Amino acid sequence: MRITVIGTGYLGAVHAACMADIGHEVLGVDVDTAKIEALAAGRPPFHEPGLGEFLTRNVEAGRLRFSTSLAAAAGFGDVHFVCVGTPQKPGSNAADLRYVDAVIEGLAPGLRAGALVVGKSTVPVGTAARLIERIRELAPVGTVAELAWNPEFLREGFAVHDTLHPDRVVVGVTSNDADTVLREVYAPILETNRTPWISTSLATAELAKVSANAFLATKISFINAMADVCDAAGGDVVTLADAIGYDPRIGRRFLSAGVGFGGGCLPKDIRAFIARAGELGVDEALSFLRNVDEINMRRRRRAVEVARELAGGTFLGRNIAVLGAAFKPDSDDVRDSPALNVAAAVQLQGAQVRVHDPAAIDNARALFPTLDYVPDVEKACEHADLVLHLTEWRDYRELDPSVLAGIVRHPRVLDGRNALDVQVWRAAGWTVRALGRAHDRGRSGEGMPAPRPGGWISLKG
Ligand code: UDX
Repeated sequence: MRITVIGTGYLGAVHAACMADIGHEVLGVDVDTAKIEALAAGRPPFHEPGLGEFLTRNVEAGRLRFSTSLAAAAGFGDVHFVCVGTPQKPGSNAADLRYVDAVIEGLAPGLRAGALVVGKSTVPVGTAARLIERIRELAPVGTVAELAWNPEFLREGFAVHDTLHPDRVVVGVTSNDADTVLREVYAPILETNRTPWISTSLATAELAKVSANAFLATKISFINAMADVCDAAGGDVVTLADAIGYDPRIGRRFLSAGVGFGGGCLPKDIRAFIARAGELGVDEALSFLRNVDEINMRRRRRAVEVARELAGGTFLGRNIAVLGAAFKPDSDDVRDSPALNVAAAVQLQGAQVRVHDPAAIDNARALFPTLDYVPDVEKACEHADLVLHLTEWRDYRELDPSVLAGIVRHPRVLDGRNALDVQVWRAAGWTVRALGRAHDRGRSGEGMPAPRPGGWISLKG
């Protein structure tokens, strides 16, 4: 099929490459010329494991091309995927739909007969119904074009895998024809994975995305709230998460406490959902999401507080090494990154801060130019009074704490992601603090029952 993918950011670039890889003829479109040039040369404009290979393979095979022209897209495609961003509107919780609207305005007048426009961007419920009207107004006289909504659930860092092996495909459609076309688009993926197919109304499809993200955010904030309780009561949030996570009704995934969630989706999506609920007159139904947001933002302040305590009560005159700038590992995305926010706050309070990240330094520098960025962990840790572990890259989990202990001025670390092996770091002479692990305040073993062989914790200690 002839497919266009409009908007080649984290979502669209991957979608375009994957659609080409399953055999479609694909045209990727973006207003950003530099991005389009990079993609056309087979170079991903951002860090996404595996994407480069997919781009090169399909560009070379001639199945994947790129353009900056919406008119060219309209003339090319049978199916048009809209993948542009819906950021938070400045000064408001609501989503800014100007990019989605601009795509429809530019695309609709040139649509071919029978074309199907498929929204993938995360939008407030009701957007698709509004856009259908706009397409009807703008499409050439006599041309019947349709709109469907097909939310995307991919995670950055696993985007290629998630696109080719989705847990489910959700499509919001207003006709059987649209459903059939979309099944045809995804046929190779559906056959390989026996993927559940959920065909529903436009509103349900739109809601599927925002409610999934709201649920995930709630899960993370729940365990972060438990982390506060653990700190106050002397509990251990990691063991607690294991203990409740074995219950299949709860599940261990997305129960990792730490500095909280960030990125280009979860924070702005829950806010836009709250705003939309207000417009729909069901503000109270989502009032708990305000709490989810507040708990999450408090994590960053909590990390700064604990860091200050560890640094001896003040950041003045302290060298702080920050490991991690991306909002999560395997990504160079620094949008609303808790790591960078903490780094900036610590610097504002007088510390000398050096930031390392395996992939996100350029993006981080663009957002927070006054922080000092260094290319390796050793440089970041040189003469540091405190190390803050804020993004759980594998590289950091594999560090040798005894080597680092010889580089820093004081071997003190705050594990903001509960991902380091506390016992190993302690054994190497480090003072380790973590969020929600109150009993880990002391040196190895202090206040904490020793694990028995087989992993059981002795209650008698
Ligand atoms: C998210 C959704 O997972 C995805 O389905 C949707 O399509 C887009 O939004 P993404 O933003 O790539 O994906 O990141 P995700 O892996 O969900 O992580 C979001 C944030 O939550 C990160 O900052 C991560 O560090 C944090 N997180 C995740 C936790 O703090 N604890 C956890 O247990 C899991």
